[in-house]
This record gives sequence, C-alpha cells and structure tokens, in this order.
Amino acid sequence: MLATLVGRRVGHQGARWARKNEPHVHSWDVGVVAELIEVADASDPRLADYRDLRDVELRKHLEAEHGLFLAEGEKVVRRAVEAGFRARSFLMAPRWLEGLDDVLERSDAPCYVVSESLAEKVTGFHVHRGALASLERMPLPTAASVIAGARTVVVLEDVVDHTNVGAIFRSAAALGVDAVLLSPRCADPLYRRSVKVAMGAVFSMPYARMGEWYDGLAELSRAGFTTIALTPADDAVEIEEAVKGLDRVALLMGSEGPGLSRRWIEAADVRALIPMAAGIDSLNVAAATAVACYVTARR
Ligand SMILES: C[S@@+](CC[C@H](N)C(=O)[O-])C[C@H]1O[C@@H](n2cnc3c(N)ncnc32)[C@H](O)[C@@H]1O
Repeated sequence: MLATLVGRRVGHQGARWARKNEPHVHSWDVGVVAELIEVADASDPRLADYRDLRDVELRKHLEAEHGLFLAEGEKVVRRAVEAGFRARSFLMAPRWLEGLDDVLERSDAPCYVVSESLAEKVTGFHVHRGALASLERMPLPTAASVIAGARTVVVLEDVVDHTNVGAIFRSAAALGVDAVLLSPRCADPLYRRSVKVAMGAVFSMPYARMGEWYDGLAELSRAGFTTIALTPADDAVEIEEAVKGLDRVALLMGSEGPGLSRRWIEAADVRALIPMAAGIDSLNVAAATAVACYVTARR
C-alpha cells in the first residue's frame, strides 16, 4: 500500500523507480526532486535525527552537536524551507506526501516514508500533523545587525520555556515587531516546541542572542532605543503612557518565575505596567508581550 501510494506520486511526475538492496527499502531516484525512501525498520540509522523527540535534554544535545532543528506539520515545514533553511531529510506518512509535493519537488534531501505507527515508535509521540523535517541551522546574526533599522524590538531576559518563546515570536511577528533579542540563557527559538507554537514565525522574525547579559542593554541605548522594562509593579507607568510619542522602542520582558532582574530594571529608561484586575499578580510572559506589542504598535 505504501509503495503504491509513493510510487503513484512520483510516477505521476515521470520519476524513475529503482529498488535498493535492502529488503525493506524502495527508493525512487528522481534527480533534483527529494528521493522518497520507504523505511519499515524503526532502528534504521537514517532516522536518527527524529529519535526520542520527547527527551528535551537528549534532543538539545543532539541538535547542537549536529547543527540541526526539527519542523513539524505541513505549513511549518514549508515555511522553514521557503525561509532558506536547507533540509537534511524529511520524515512522513504517505498521506502527507501530496500536501508537501511542492516542497519535495524542490529539495534534494531524502524523504523517509514511514507508517504512522513507525513514526510514533521512532519519535516517541503521535505525530498527528504527519510531516517532520530535519533542517540545518544557519549562523545567527549579531545583535547589532538585527536592531539596525528596527523601530520596535522585544528583548527577552531568561525566558526559558520553549512554548513561551514560540508564542512570543508569533505575537511579535503578528503585531509589527521588527526584531527579537534573547539574553544568553533564553530557550532556543528553533527547538521543535518553539517552532511549532510560533507557527514558523521564528523563521521570518530576525533575532539574535546577546553575547552577555550584564551590559546587554547598552547596545540598545547607544542605538537610540528607549528601553522599557515591563513589570507588574504597581508604581510603574501604564504602558500606553510609557510608549507615547517614542521613536525606537525596546520592550524588556522578564522570565517566567522572578521576572526582570534588578540589573535590567535599573538599566532601563522606563518601567511600564499592564494594569490588571484586582487580585491578579501578573500575566504570563507571552500574554504580556502580546499586549505590550499591541499597545506599542499604536504609539
Ligand atoms: C510571569 S511574569 C513575572 C512575574 C514576576 N513575579 C514579576 O514581578 O515580574 C513574566 C514577565 O511578564 C511581564 N509581565 C507580566 N505581567 C505584567 C504586567 N501586568 N505588566 C507588565 N509586565 C508584565 C513582565 O515582563 C514579567 O517579567
């Protein structure tokens, strides 16, 4: 059934069909088009990039060592490739092939075609969006280059949760932010969870990681940004007031537990507050970033 489905797709493109030596592997050598390779053995070493996706520590190590990251789901895989990231390989169940036809046609990376149960066995979870791609990381730009020409920048201090980082990138992209800066300890925007939650906004939003935390804001001040520390402290200025009439704005967002450090709060030009209903201490950092970006976009 798998071979029929896969064969039909490439057959339709006039592809050449060649059977490899391995008893469980069929392959279709179609020149510049991604080579479709049926894999039926979960221990096949070619699937190494996709192994144990739930094991965060193991994945961080593996992805750093090999300079790769994973994209999940048809839209996100397409956005990664369109943003210029080179695919190392694709992994998908037959029913997802057609949706990614255009991407596979333009890639020279192998596409491993597996059953849904095998995908689950390899990755450790049910891949309900069906398509995965392993892509090569590109070197990150410098902070100076991503803030050059930017008018609104979001700066994250030690935001360590991948879901929050992904949600912040998605909101920042949607609400007109020009760039994101990360303190050295922030979670990786290209970690699978961040990529998924961001719906690919991590590919289009320029971002950089600061070389150091202590004087990390100095570069923004030198570039003429007003640095605004977002804090739920009730003696801070309301965010609408804080951004009114400003040209270049850097919104400083603090970590999930303790919030912004004293160092960054003292280094900032202004402290700004999103007023909340009585009895609520603070917003989640991703929610607070979305509100701050929305207000700042209308300054
Ligand atoms: C979960 S909050 C941290 C709460 C921490 N107890 C504090 O006092 O900052 C994470 C970040 O979201 C932002 N934030 C959350 N609620 C906010 C509010 N009402 N006004 C301004 N910023 C807020 C701040 O940047 C904060 O550092």
